[in-house]
Amino acid sequence: MTIKMVNMEFDGKAVSVPEGMTLVDAAATVGIHIPNLCHIKELRGVGACRMCMVEIEGMKTPVTGCTTRTKEGMKVQTKTPKVEEIRKFVTDLVLSFHPLDCMTCPKAGDCDLQRYAADLSIRESSFGRKSFNYELNDKSPFITIDNNYCTLCGRCVRVCKEQGTNVLDFMGRGITTKVSTAQDKPLHESGCTFCGSCVEACPVNTIMERDRWQHGREWDLEKHESVCTACGSGCSVIVSKKDGRIVKVNTKESNGYICAIGRFGFDSLGSGNRITKPMKRQDGKLVTTTWEEALKIAADALKKAGANAGFIASGSLTNEEAFAFQKLARDVAGSANIDTPASSYAGGAISALRAAYGDAGIAVASKANLSAADCVVVIGADPSQKQQSLQEIDVMIRRRAQAGAKVIVVSTEKTDLAHHQNAILLQLEAGTDTALLAGVMSAALAEGLTTADTKGLDALRKALVSVDRASSTSGVSVEQIMTAAKTYVAAKQPVVVLGTGISANEEASLQALNLALLKNAGVMPLMLEANALGVMQMGCLSAMGPGYAKAKQAGKSYSEMKSGMKALYIAGNVPDTDFKADVLIVQASHTNALTQKADLVLPMTALFEKHGTIVNTYGTEKVFAQAQPATAESKDGVEIAAEVSAAVSKTKAFKAKDIAALVKKVKTGKLGAGTFKPVKAAAAKPYGMSTTVLLLAMNQGLLSGSAVLKVIEVKQPILQK
Ligand code: SF4
Ligand code: SF4
Ligand code: SF4
Ligand code: FES
Repeated sequence: MTIKMVNMEFDGKAVSVPEGMTLVDAAATVGIHIPNLCHIKELRGVGACRMCMVEIEGMKTPVTGCTTRTKEGMKVQTKTPKVEEIRKFVTDLVLSFHPLDCMTCPKAGDCDLQRYAADLSIRESSFGRKSFNYELNDKSPFITIDNNYCTLCGRCVRVCKEQGTNVLDFMGRGITTKVSTAQDKPLHESGCTFCGSCVEACPVNTIMERDRWQHGREWDLEKHESVCTACGSGCSVIVSKKDGRIVKVNTKESNGYICAIGRFGFDSLGSGNRITKPMKRQDGKLVTTTWEEALKIAADALKKAGANAGFIASGSLTNEEAFAFQKLARDVAGSANIDTPASSYAGGAISALRAAYGDAGIAVASKANLSAADCVVVIGADPSQKQQSLQEIDVMIRRRAQAGAKVIVVSTEKTDLAHHQNAILLQLEAGTDTALLAGVMSAALAEGLTTADTKGLDALRKALVSVDRASSTSGVSVEQIMTAAKTYVAAKQPVVVLGTGISANEEASLQALNLALLKNAGVMPLMLEANALGVMQMGCLSAMGPGYAKAKQAGKSYSEMKSGMKALYIAGNVPDTDFKADVLIVQASHTNALTQKADLVLPMTALFEKHGTIVNTYGTEKVFAQAQPATAESKDGVEIAAEVSAAVSKTKAFKAKDIAALVKKVKTGKLGAGTFKPVKAAAAKPYGMSTTVLLLAMNQGLLSGSAVLKVIEVKQPILQK
């Protein structure tokens, strides 16, 4: 969708801003701050606090900038005496019931109220001071709530509601109103997932990270941009440090979202299960060794195995680590056996995407715009905050639904998303996706849908089945199929999301792509790892080299390498542990069930210790720097691969410092427009995989070193109510 720009003025300055945006957000795009307390970027304004008043030429009285939208020719004044007077009154009133603790408050320097009081020169409230002596709510593991500081702006309540967790609300009336959970329960006994969105939204220090007190104030903190690599979203974060220690993690994007793992999981970096030194198996036990000896053991095993060595690159590696790893496999160790877990849990989708969109088809998500979708078709996917699985994606879809988008859920279960009021659930029998989607397409075509690819469409039509047949095969009623089809036809910007419920199966994935192609919809195959797409683009696929170029020689796949390899080298977190090899080398940051089985363990950097680039499940490339030094003797994957390469062959060895430049040369490939690939519409053996189980298995090491896991375990029964 093209965004229409309008020409208008803010404070006499001519600007061009998107039409229909709130004045607060539009002004921010051109560097003008309109004071606000209750506004949340990009959400519908509620006009509650009156801080954002502005004057508009031609209007008699000031209006709220958070509820008024941009129009061509509008002339807005944000700093007139009239609006300053209103802001002074509001600030004065709020300060009358706010403890003036700026000298010790950890929010100082990052507090909207402090900023406005300073800008408006208000030192003390002119109203009589009120205090409520609310008890500090500090019983939860990560977040404290001190209602004594609350401005009653409602940002926390709205942000929690809008993302679907709906934990906070106002309790009581008038000035004694307070923000609380239902029945005033501690957060860990409510449906709170500890995402911390309310912490981020709170303009003052009412809702804070629990251990922020006495750990530095905003101006003391050293900030680093990084990414969380614990799931496919690969969320951008700001890591704040004081005296070399991480004290908080925030979302990088304003009004962005990160889950509890991204925000509070940094405790895992220094946890007891970090692998601090290389380890080798001796007399049946893992014992520590030197890097020198570890490199020799690895090199000897790889040389001995030669072409029968296997290499598995986790999708949590950076592009640079993945490129170096495949170079080690192909160019140095002389093995074609290199692959990544995505080829197993999303193997069908990968083949289908290549068939429909060409060799670079895996990158199709880069063209989908979930944040603008008016209809999201979620097939075989269960992103869920309650299940703590792909939580950011759940939030993004819910935000679209809150904005009016329809969500068509195709699933064997009534998923959390299917409970949304804007959701249409097509609850099908396992393995019947091809038939059900064929029925939806038949109904959509009967509604008059046409496409540019008429030749391909003719072939597709022949492979479709009637709505009645789709209904009897899948168990979904004719009415539901018709409703879904009509909704899809009416959509202007649909996005089709493929989850692990179908992505292991090529036929089902192809059928989902056929549905997408009918409306030229965006396609998002959900990847579970932060850099699954990048790792594939870097050539960690058995049939493809860097830039999706056909590999000189196709090697064994991830599943084929589970047994029979003379040496198997696994770098990073993978969901499986059932690997058998003569020598098993595991490169990881934390101990887990797989490292326990290994013959050699190489300590690798984790989370914010890494630097480089990734391509997340949205197809977005993210560049990030190292936020925290490597723990103990752990090393970056590029360094490890380069050192192993030197130990294997002096003549073929490569240098770590050369890898970043080589990665920049890797082509992204040309994405085709997409062609229909008709498939048989029939029931098949069930093929789905559980995203939650796969993600927990992949992050086992990281989570077991973090308090986040304990919360997840304790809260599972509450969250899933
Ligand atoms: S941490 Fe997240 S789920 Fe919990 S109350 Fe805050 S916004 Fe809601
Ligand atoms: S807790 Fe914070 S965000 Fe929530 S109403 Fe109070 S001041 Fe606003
Ligand atoms: S949603 Fe995924 S990438 Fe984002 S913070 Fe959570 S675990 Fe990390
Ligand atoms: S920000 Fe507009 S009324 Fe509060």
